[in-house]
Amino acid sequence: MTVEMTPPALTALTDEDLRLLGGGPAEEEAPLLSGEHVRLRRASLSPLRYPGSKRKMLPAIRQLIVDNVPRPELLVEPFCGGASVSLGLLEADAVERVLLADFDPLVAAFWQVAAEDTDALVKAMRKEPVTVENWDRWRKYRPRTPLNRAMKCLFLNRTTFSGIIGSDAGPIGGRAQTNYSIDCRFDKDAIEARLRNIQLLRKQGRIVGTVAGRWQSTFRYAHDVAASLDLKADSVVFYLDPPYIEKASDLYERPFTEQDHIALAQHLDSTERWVLSYDKEPLVLSLYRGMQGVRQYRVTHHYTMTGSRKSPVPGREVLFTNLPQPPHQSALPPSAPPRGDI
Ligand SMILES: C[S@@+](CC[C@H](N)C(=O)[O-])C[C@H]1O[C@@H](n2cnc3c(N)ncnc32)[C@H](O)[C@@H]1O
Repeated sequence: MTVEMTPPALTALTDEDLRLLGGGPAEEEAPLLSGEHVRLRRASLSPLRYPGSKRKMLPAIRQLIVDNVPRPELLVEPFCGGASVSLGLLEADAVERVLLADFDPLVAAFWQVAAEDTDALVKAMRKEPVTVENWDRWRKYRPRTPLNRAMKCLFLNRTTFSGIIGSDAGPIGGRAQTNYSIDCRFDKDAIEARLRNIQLLRKQGRIVGTVAGRWQSTFRYAHDVAASLDLKADSVVFYLDPPYIEKASDLYERPFTEQDHIALAQHLDSTERWVLSYDKEPLVLSLYRGMQGVRQYRVTHHYTMTGSRKSPVPGREVLFTNLPQPPHQSALPPSAPPRGDI
């Protein structure tokens, strides 16, 4: 079974956008781009449903990466969440290896256990009753072991409205379970297939490791990993997807303050090769626009919620990168993405 990843077109921010955002005229118009189509096996998708998933940006991010030389030996994802970009880039063979990291203890434990102790997680997942009573139990429970943290993350992610683990979101279908059943996103066979894919990637060394920590410690750890693999700096690429400015406190338990956004921009100004996705916010534009060697793109969605084709709809996300080669122009026409939640 494969999933078609629709290429979103990337367009430069217009002067009008920047005027509306209070940012003044664009200094330079970035080229239009449609990333090439990416085919993914269903088993290669993330086991986590992530509200801020960047899976839809995969064709564009892949295009930015493959049009650069050398091909990355290591992709580091310090804000990995559901890790859909890392997993997609591995599946598309655009990168050799990935390092996954997140500061949220439940999310970090999930990736660590999914990669290192897959059999135990599959066993725990298989025997878990997917009921509202059990949802209440996991919600209150304060797990102490990595396995229980991983299981709490997986269970609540796939049974909570919108996949939101923290916050006050309730169970899928509500307490009355009228329109949806709480287990409608908990297909145990499909989840196991995705966990087995992670197990295999770890055994093959394509997932080099997982890190629980803030992005700063992930950068330090990544340098150690790169040194141990004898990698040159230009064959390591960081993909960064920090929490949204507006919604951070609703979606994730870790707040990411304005000061955090500024600190990240200061770090990226001077180091590394990176691709960064963000919400189109005045603060973000003011931090990255005009940064030396950095290009910006806006993702434009070519579909509606029903999956029917329509004229491009400007999305809220922006991509920035300091990769030296600009992406090739692509004349591929946009097409509709797969329907429904996968
Ligand atoms: C926008 S989400 C990433 C979504 C991901 N790209 C995907 O496709 O699923 C941001 C992630 O950053 C994590 N995070 C928040 N503060 C962090 C910090 N200081 N350092 C590292 N990760 C952090 C959150 O736990 C969350 O998983």
